[in-house]
Amino acid sequence: MTQQTSMEREARNILVQNDRGGYTIPTEGLYPYQWNWDSAFAALGFAEFDIDRAWQELETLFSGQWSNGMVPHILFHKPDPGYYPGPDVWGGTGPVPSSGISQPPIAPSFARMIWAKDRAAGEARLRALYPKMLAWVRWFMDWRLDRGAVCITHPWEAGRDNAPDWDSAMAMIDPQGVGDYTRRDTGHVNPEMRPTKYDYDRYIWLVQLGNRLGWNEARLLEENPFRIADPTMTFTLLRTARDLLAIGTELGLDTSSLPDDIATLEAGAETLWNPDLRCYDSRNAKTDTFAGCVSNASFLCWYAGIARPEMSAQLDRIMDAAAYPVPSHDPTSPKFDAKRYWRGPTWAVMNMLIGVGLEEMNQSQGHALRDATAQLISTFGFAEYFDPTNGDPAGGNSFTWTAAVWLAWAGRH
Ligand code: DGY
Repeated sequence: MTQQTSMEREARNILVQNDRGGYTIPTEGLYPYQWNWDSAFAALGFAEFDIDRAWQELETLFSGQWSNGMVPHILFHKPDPGYYPGPDVWGGTGPVPSSGISQPPIAPSFARMIWAKDRAAGEARLRALYPKMLAWVRWFMDWRLDRGAVCITHPWEAGRDNAPDWDSAMAMIDPQGVGDYTRRDTGHVNPEMRPTKYDYDRYIWLVQLGNRLGWNEARLLEENPFRIADPTMTFTLLRTARDLLAIGTELGLDTSSLPDDIATLEAGAETLWNPDLRCYDSRNAKTDTFAGCVSNASFLCWYAGIARPEMSAQLDRIMDAAAYPVPSHDPTSPKFDAKRYWRGPTWAVMNMLIGVGLEEMNQSQGHALRDATAQLISTFGFAEYFDPTNGDPAGGNSFTWTAAVWLAWAGRH
């Protein structure tokens, strides 16, 4: 049996073992529920060997959509005491117990990729998802724009929990009254690979604030001190709007809002261009100041259909600076921390989004990144993330989205 075949078999097994019946958990123990963008990756992985299950993953995700269009970042389908903060702390107001924030909107783009593998039979399922996906875009456009760029209201919303991008905004939060709580994550993985207590106090304080305000976006806009225009959200929403326009046009569905949305988001993306850094950056919407961070999210520009020679040069520099790229934070920065979650480690999922974008725009770095990611996973396994200096696997293991990246992209040479 070739190495590729055994890797493929292992990757499929991970998806099957993490399947909880209609949805897939990211990994046993650490993340025992349905996470939004993890689920989109799971669907893409399933599409390689069980197309019905792929659609079902997305349908279950959208079963938790709120009446205002928001699709939560966690759906708590079944109680699990091994995770904190659970549904009672969040107080989500949707049809399924949930968190009160969203996550990078990649599911619509992935639905289009899945449809490409299932054109005839998949059409009815895509048609049923389309208005829900459109409503999700509307929610972002109505509530989360700052000069056309998409803002997060909690670090968990970008999926890049403890990225240095948020450091100055986190420092503005005084987590008074957060009270006692018991973290569960550090019981599952090495605390040195996780956010600190300083971070967690602020994460929980922001959850308590949202719960107290009933997750009312208008009130959060006024009262939440944390509001960052972020490249992860902006680039993924821009691509999603483009993909929905393509789907809707082909299927003869209502696309009337999308051309304006795309123009707004394209202009918004340019407000994330930091001329001093010569890179796309996060921007604090409260202070209109840049974070000064070259992150792996900076390189999602191609995924959104935006190419800049300066970004190619940045990527060359970063790929040279890390043995196992793309690190989540610039290895030459004093804030780089090789094992601490989003402050340095390499994430196969981000590599895939960056690589897909590069390949679609015929940028030669795409192939190099795919090869580097395949080498990383085949050498070090299906970890949650990896130390970019030596490839050490970090965080949870048997991880759904890393397995899915192997099946859908890295393992397909
Ligand atoms: C966690 O609990 O660490 C998650 O990243 C929240 O989404």
